[in-house]
This record gives sequence, C-alpha cells and structure tokens, in this order.
Amino acid sequence: MEYGPAPESSAPGSAWLERHGRRFGLFIGGGWTEPGQDTFETLNPGTAKPLATLTQASATDVDRAVKAAGKAQPDWWALGGHGRARHLYAIARQIQKHSRFFAVLESLDNGKPIRESRDIDIPLVARHFYHHAGWAQLMAQELPERVPVGVIGQIIPWNFPLLMLAWKIAPALAMGNTIVLKPAEFTSLTALRFAELCREIGLPAGVVNIITGDGRTGELLVKHPGVDKIAFTGSTEVGRIIRSATAGSGKKLSLELGGKSPFVVFSDADLDSVVEGVVDAIWFNQGQVCCAGSRILVHEGVADRLVTKLKERMETLRLGDPLDKAVDMGAIIAPVQLQKIQELVRRGENEGATLWQPSWSCPQDGWFFPPTLFTEVSPAATIAEVEIFGPVVVLMTFRTPAEAVELANNTRYGLAASVWTENINLALDIAPQLKAGTVWINCTNVFDAASGFGGYRESGFGREGGREGLREYVRFADGKGGRSGKGGRSGRATTTRSGGKSARAAASATTAGSASSALPPIDRTPKLYIAGKQTRPDSGYSFPVLDAAGRQIGEVGQGNRKDIRSAVEAAHKADSWARLTAHGRAQVLYYLAENLAARADEFGNRLELFGANSADAQQEVSFTIERIYTYAAWADKYDGRVHPTPFRNVTLAMPEPLGVIGIVAPESWPLLGFVSTVLPAIAMGNTVVAVPSARAPLAATDFYQVLDTSDVPAGVLNIVTGNADELAAVLAGHDDVDGVWYFGTSEGSAEVERLSIGNMKRTWVDLGQPRDWENPRIGAGEEFLEQATQVKNIWIPYGE
Ligand code: NAI
Repeated sequence: MEYGPAPESSAPGSAWLERHGRRFGLFIGGGWTEPGQDTFETLNPGTAKPLATLTQASATDVDRAVKAAGKAQPDWWALGGHGRARHLYAIARQIQKHSRFFAVLESLDNGKPIRESRDIDIPLVARHFYHHAGWAQLMAQELPERVPVGVIGQIIPWNFPLLMLAWKIAPALAMGNTIVLKPAEFTSLTALRFAELCREIGLPAGVVNIITGDGRTGELLVKHPGVDKIAFTGSTEVGRIIRSATAGSGKKLSLELGGKSPFVVFSDADLDSVVEGVVDAIWFNQGQVCCAGSRILVHEGVADRLVTKLKERMETLRLGDPLDKAVDMGAIIAPVQLQKIQELVRRGENEGATLWQPSWSCPQDGWFFPPTLFTEVSPAATIAEVEIFGPVVVLMTFRTPAEAVELANNTRYGLAASVWTENINLALDIAPQLKAGTVWINCTNVFDAASGFGGYRESGFGREGGREGLREYVRFADGKGGRSGKGGRSGRATTTRSGGKSARAAASATTAGSASSALPPIDRTPKLYIAGKQTRPDSGYSFPVLDAAGRQIGEVGQGNRKDIRSAVEAAHKADSWARLTAHGRAQVLYYLAENLAARADEFGNRLELFGANSADAQQEVSFTIERIYTYAAWADKYDGRVHPTPFRNVTLAMPEPLGVIGIVAPESWPLLGFVSTVLPAIAMGNTVVAVPSARAPLAATDFYQVLDTSDVPAGVLNIVTGNADELAAVLAGHDDVDGVWYFGTSEGSAEVERLSIGNMKRTWVDLGQPRDWENPRIGAGEEFLEQATQVKNIWIPYGE
C-alpha cells in the first residue's frame, strides 16, 4: 500500500520565529538581551534553508549568565522542595499544553520526523519534569544529608535538543541548583522557546539562563570559576577536552558521551520483533543517537534469514520531509555530519565490507542519507569500531553466547546494549556480562525519567534519570570531602577532628620516641604485595620509613610503573571476586576483621612508632575493626532498585563494581585511612591496587599478612608502596584501570583528573582537604559505596 504525504503545518513555528523577527538574543536573569554583534544562522535540515539568526554568546555574556544564576541560587534553594516542585510541575504542564508546537519547532530545527518529536521527544520532556517535580517534593525526606551543588553549566548536543535540555534541567532544578545551559549551535530554537516558557510560569529570574553559541561559548562556560558543576552530553572528544579543562578546578563533572552499542540476536529470538527492533535501534532519529544499536551481532544460524528480512523492511521505510507524519526517517542535522557519514561509509566499502541500501532514492533538498546495512564486516573494521552517528548499521555473526559477549564488549564504549532471545535464562545470564550502562531485553531505545541512563568506560560517567541521576546535582551537607567526576564539590572536609588527631599525634610523638628509645630499631623491609604474593620492587630500590622521632624503623619497596602494571594485571585476573555472592564477600570481610582483632596489639604498637600515643593507637585499631564490620555489613545490603518505568517493563537498577580501582590512601590515619578507602571498593566487588601512605606505610604492609590469613583471593587487593603522587599518576594514566581514588594533595588531585582522560576513567579526589576518617559519617558510608559502583539499568519485559 502506498502512503500519501500527510504534512504537519509549519505555520505555528514560523509565526513564532516571525514574532521574534527571526533574531534572538540570550536569555539571562529572566530577560532577553539584544541580539549580539557576533551571530550565526540556524538552518532547517529538511530544506537547507535558514530559520533564524542567533547570538554567539561572548565571555561577558557567559559571565553575566553565571552571575545571574549564582545570585538566584540561594533563594531557589530556600524556596524549599514543595516550592520547587510546584514550578517543575508548572513547566511540565506548560510543555504538555504546547506539545504540538514544540514538536513542530523541534522537527523544523533538527530534521527529525514529526512522528518522533511528537510521540517520543516531547512526551518524555514533560514526563521528566513531572517525575522530577516529585523528587523536589521528596528531597528533604529521601536525601536528607544532601544539598545543591550550586550553579550548573550544562552543554547539550543537537540530536535530542529539548529532551537533553529536560534531562539536564529537571534534576538540577529539583535539587535546588540554578542553571546556565548552552544548547548545540545547530538546534537552539526549542531551548529559546523553553526560556520563554520559564517566564510564563513565573520561574524566578536567573534560575534558568539560556545562552547560545558554538564550542567557544561552551569552553567559556566550562572554564568560568562561578560554575560549580558541568554536565555535558556530546562527543567523547569534547568530553576529554572538558575533563582536562576542569581538572583540579573543584568543579563536579558528569559526561554522557558516545557509544557503539551492540544489538545481540540469539538463534531463538523472534526475528520479526528483531527487525522492528533494528528499525528502532538504528533508524530512529536517523541513527543520530548516542545509544544507537549500531552493531548487530547475530547467531550465525539465523544471520541469513535476518538479513533477508531486514532488507525487505528497509525497502519499505519512508524517508523525506520531517514534517510529513507518514515518514519514518528525516534529515541529517548538517552537511558536516552528512559528510562524516558518507566518508565512513566509503571507508567501510574500501575495507571490504558489503554495503546494502534500499532501491529508492533520497530527496535532493535538505541533507538526507538512506538506511544502510553492512555485512561481511570484520570486528576490527573502522565501521565496526567508530561511532558513525548516522543510519548505518554493521552486522557480524557469532557462534556461542561467550563469543557474543566478547564481541559485544569489544569496544571502548559502554553506553547501552540490547539482547534478543525468547530464553529468559539466557537473557539474564548475558545482561550482567555486558559492559554497558543500560541493557534492554527484547526492546531497545526506550527511555524514562525513572530510569538512570549513562555510560561505562569511554561513554562517560554519571547517570541521568532515576534516583541515581540525582546524585549528580547534590553534595553532602556536612561537607564530607571528596569530589569527582561523580562525587561532589564538597571540598569542605571537616578537618577539626582530624586536626585534633594530628595535634594529638604530634604531642605524643616525643613521648613515643622516648618510650621506645631503649628498644633496638625494628628493621623490616616489607615487599610489595601483588597477586597474593610478596614481591620485590622492580626498581630494586627501597626507601626509609622514619618513626615520629625521625629514626629509621624500616624500609619499604620503591614501587614503579612496572609494579603498578603487574598489580593491575593481577587485579584484572581476580575479577571472579565480582561474581562471588555478596554474602561470600561479606564473610571474607568479617574474617578480615576477626584476624585483625587477633593482632590488635601488634598493629597498635606499629602505630605508636608513627607518633600515636598508646590510647590513640589502640583506638585507631578499634575504629579500623569497626570499619571493616561496616563494609562487611554493607556488602550484601547496598542493593539496587526496581524502577517502575511506564511501559511493559520493570527496570532493574543494579549497582555493579567499576572493575579495577587504583586507590591512593590518605597520609593521616595510616591504618584506618587505608582500610576506610580500600574496603568499600572491595566490598562492592572491585579489585584494588592500593598505594598506602608514604609516611607510614608499614601499617598497610603489615595488613597483607592479615589478608593472607583471611581468604581474600589473590589479586583482589594489591599493595604497591612508593612515592604516592608518582604512582597515582601511573594509575590515572593506565588504560586498564577503571577508576582512581586519590586522597592526597590538591596538585596531585588535579594531576589525577588530568591524566584520567586516556580511557575517561572515573576519578574521586579530595583536593588536598583532609577528611576526618575517625568520624563514621564522614570516613565511611554511602558516598564511598556510590563511588565504588556504577548503576546498570536492565529493562525487562514484564506484565501486559
Ligand atoms: P560536540 O561534542 O562537538 O558538541 C556537543 C556540544 O558541545 C555542543 O553544544 C557544542 O557546542 C559543545 N562544544 C563543542 N566543543 C566544546 C568545547 N571545547 N567546550 C565546551 N563545549 C563544547 O558534538 P558535535 O560536533 O555536534 O558532533 C560530533 C560527533 O559527536 C557526532 O558525529 C557524534 O559522533 C558525536 N555526538 C555524540 C552525541 C551523544 O549524544 N553522545 C551527541 C552529539 C554528537
């Protein structure tokens, strides 16, 4: 059957543009600025014709917007959860009331089919504001220890302009922050209309500021000292630039970056559903979707049948005017993106893959590209590795589930994956093995405000949506130290008690020195501890360890790059730790506590050598035992959630370990600090390469004897002594390390953040602000568990 065109009128969009004289200033402090000197045009991808002239925000503009947000923030927070909920609710209502207008404007500006902007983007925008109105209302009860981060700089891409705005703005406002948002230069119009909407509903001036411009404006926003957090969605390349630019600045950061998501089809899958799944996975929004299922991995037994069915379906897809309601695919955002797609497709052919496109041709006005299928693709081919961000899918085959998992994970990204099989056991066996932030079972590209979305590996860190997404926009009220790609710009660690401890330690140093002066110095040279074995340092060097009186009491190995590499390898080999049951991990940790308790006096004596008086030393050991109990307790209790997403799904939000975490333990509290940082990571199933305090490493090196007797499997905890900052730099730059925690100097913190960009690993640093490890609310708890895990959302069909 042939469909005739069913065009949606563009008149409301055009009328609105005309009302603004097709020229826009910036929305700052609740009002519009005059259109600037420096301007650029935004074009309609469906016709290649200009829609409006926009202002390129300058440094002065960015500064004004940030100051307006800063001024508005205290009152916005003081308004309280209910007040904020009412505003968010009003935004949601207003979006709904103008939903068709927003859909038309979005399709005009972005080129996506009106069917998608009308039925997917805009309803999800409203849903996001409704859902987060609820979180504003519940914040005081549900997140009682948390407060807003402050002024948030948000930079969004062009593929889902209003939806990405909603994903960023709704949680930030709910948690009491104020905002400066920069839409992508290709698609600013719905954000500008949204600015008007904020005024219509009476949002206080300065709470939301919208500034337009390209990457230069984005860069100004990222670097502005008044911004407390940057939330970015876009390319991994720009994500890296932003990670470097914010390193050491104290800004909190979340990054939602690219992907090359696998679409895994087992032989028992319902192939007709699979075909519709592929349409949704890669031809939705012309494939310009960060989580597009761009790699079909299919069991070889059904590959030919699937390819035949796919080709038939591709032949029937309709591509054309985005405002035509009968169209499946619209236009590509801009010539530059079209060229990128064309170039990668040429490359695919040159590298020997087989290209297939439907027989029909694309319209000539505007920027269009047909749905494209590549078969005979090698896993190492460019088109199998690179994010094309267009309607191009590659198909590869596998023989066994193990091979499917290996191929699926054979990417530097980890944003999403989908699994297609009628066998629930197989689906639930595969889902945890996929390294991706979202796993869809027998569905794909479904999103909801109640479910977190975000990446593993080079797809970034942080989540948007769900309870887990709120963490991005809060910090702990009592200023627990630590800040990270995920943590908080709290920085204001409570130092009083640890200050007290240092003072106590200093005062007792002399006593300890004199008390032990009669004893002969204990000269022991512990080795490194790698893969469950004591290992000599590669360097062949040791460095002296001095007691509080400055006398040498031993030496420890001077670990280097090679030792870290060996330790990382050992940590990877121990990955079965993550698969041990949580109960099993808890048992091992309790056993650790038991064995440490048996040697409490010995550890106490050791701590006395570093200046603690006897009571303090014993107290540190007791705290340490208690801390181990804390994490043994948490090991099987830090559970996930079931998000009630409003489709035929339940969505399991599962906290998973990061993998291998490098931990540079704090200088103060040599034993308690070491255990407080290492144990939460291990309790959650990570394996660890730890660098103990260089001042007093013996407490940690003694600890490996406790490990040996406590059934901690080899490689789960590796200890490398040496210069903390040098070893931290190696860990931060190591591509097989998944996260780094650093509790040292501010310079060291900055360096760790800077060096993490290689594989975009998550970092958590203390910016040189010592933390009171003794205090169980600050030195332990949920913050540590959040840092030790990443949430995977698994969407499972459920109910009718
Ligand atoms: P991009 O990453 O350059 O742009 C995203 C946003 O970042 C835009 O608002 C842009 O103005 C801003 N920006 C650019 N440079 C910046 C800088 N130095 N500092 C701060 N902000 C900056 O993405 P682009 O050029 O639009 O697309 C290029 C490729 O990125 C695409 O082909 C696709 O592969 C990928 N991409 C991925 C997206 C995702 O959702 N993961 C979204 C858009 C693009």
